Amino acid sequence: MDTLLNRRTIRSYTSQTVAPELLNELLAATIRSSTTGNMQLYSIVVTREEATRKALAPAHFNQPVSLNAPLLVTFCADFNRFNLWCEQRQAVPGYANFQSFMTAALDATIAAQTFCIAAEAKGLGICYLGTTTYNPDKIIEVLNLPRFVVPITTIALGYPAQIPEACERLPLEAVVHYEAYQPYTPESIDRLYAEKEAYAPNVQFTRENNKETLAQVFTDIRYPQANNEHFSHVLLEVLKGQGFLNSETL
Ligand SMILES: Cc1cc2nc3c(=O)[nH]c(=O)nc-3n(C[C@H](O)[C@H](O)[C@H](O)COP(=O)(O)O)c2cc1C
Repeated sequence: MDTLLNRRTIRSYTSQTVAPELLNELLAATIRSSTTGNMQLYSIVVTREEATRKALAPAHFNQPVSLNAPLLVTFCADFNRFNLWCEQRQAVPGYANFQSFMTAALDATIAAQTFCIAAEAKGLGICYLGTTTYNPDKIIEVLNLPRFVVPITTIALGYPAQIPEACERLPLEAVVHYEAYQPYTPESIDRLYAEKEAYAPNVQFTRENNKETLAQVFTDIRYPQANNEHFSHVLLEVLKGQGFLNSETL
């Protein structure tokens, strides 16, 4: 509980490498994660070589964390291996559809989070790279991912160079609903977001971006509609190219 309650994302790392034995231990814990039908519909690509990390960095918009971390670990939704097994065993796979992608994406995400918790419990620092689903086509190319394999998320991993302040969170009552979803009201939205809006780094962030509200920083700068639509298009094309979407199953 201490590890979970005190965790924070780490974006700068020392030059200390992660011992292969420790990495193996983390990976062995990772594959104990819950997985749909015990099918393990994911693959984990560990990038240790500097040259490959540099090749991956543009897909992560060269975020300093993607260049600075000694290890990048890409978690992929993977029906390729399972399909091959089925075909080799006189079984006809029926996984060229969006539901199967979602299933494998969930398996990959759950495995990634187990890996993160294990790493943090061992004193390592992690940072998720959401850029993985913005530029999956580039990652597919660098990592040589075959059809039915789609990168879902990447974990930057290393020993923390600095431990930043913990970020704020919404209060528990903002995100938990008992029995059924409780509708929000204008007053409850004001109340639930008050602390986040008053949090000094967020006030500064809003001012630096010349915005009137923190919400505008998200809608206009960090996650604007045009970007979301562009990256949706990229991802949908990748799902088609990797075999999960086709006109018959759409
Ligand atoms: C799916 C996902 C994608 C993320 N992508 C990035 C990213 O590309 N770059 C980054 O610096 N942090 C990224 N993060 C980390 C979040 O910014 C971070 O978890 C959040 O701001 C809360 O901070 P904390 O983890 O320190 O509490 C991502 C987190 C998640 C869950």
